Amino acid sequence: MRWLGYKIIFTAFAVFFGLHAFAQPIRPQVPLPDGPLRNIILKNCVSCHGIDDYAFNALDKVKWTELLTNLHRGMEVNLSGHDQALLLEYLSTTFGTESAPFPREYFPPEISTFYGDEEGRSNLDVICTECHELDRVYETRASLARWRVLVVEMRQRGASLPDDENMERLIEWLSRVQSANLFE
Ligand code: HEC
Ligand code: HEC
Repeated sequence: MRWLGYKIIFTAFAVFFGLHAFAQPIRPQVPLPDGPLRNIILKNCVSCHGIDDYAFNALDKVKWTELLTNLHRGMEVNLSGHDQALLLEYLSTTFGTESAPFPREYFPPEISTFYGDEEGRSNLDVICTECHELDRVYETRASLARWRVLVVEMRQRGASLPDDENMERLIEWLSRVQSANLFE
């Protein structure tokens, strides 16, 4: 009986730490825009936090203005009218109501079986051709972590990706056949 008790406690710990302490939710990756906006952001927006978090939101201009005002109440975040207008234009087009917010808490599942080329390719044919040519996929080489972000983004955009485990299998397969290392 006591043994069973330990076992339950151990399993509870393993599950808790396995999922939450060690596995981090994946985060979006937002490239710094070019042009005048680059400086506006570097000057006003990166001293406290990075820009990746912007992708957690998908708002129109009015809602973006409210969000920035509410979150930065009492802080030194003061842009000139011109800079503010450019920033809001960028935010409301890049992370606007047309796009989908990146999930705040996505924990990639562990997988123990893997896709081979046939399964990988047939998944791409069915799922990814709905919106663009597969060239888009085959032009891209990326690490496992980057493929995960890309594929989760595709799901947010509306790609009919299967359950998390099969999505992870597709991601893992992509990271092998389209790996970031060109010489592999
Ligand atoms: C003085 C520090 C500071 C500066 C400068 C700053 N922020 Fe923030 N920002 C914060 C804090 C604090 C939060 C709230 C974090 C939280 O509790 O989630 C925040 C939150 C945000 C969020 C919400 C992120 C989310 O998880 O949804 C966005 C978007 C954001 N800031 C954009 C900006 C932009 C754009 C600028 C430049 C105009 C900027 N921030 C400049 C401190 C700052
Ligand atoms: C619902 C529509 C849709 C589906 C389905 C879709 N995509 Fe995309 N994908 C897009 C859009 C829109 C872009 C262009 C994004 C951009 O240029 O900012 C894109 C761009 C890409 C890119 C280039 C991204 C970059 O930053 O260079 C890759 C790689 C990609 N998709 C992979 C996939 C894969 C893999 C699948 C299938 C699992 C898929 N897409 C399915 C809409 C979709």
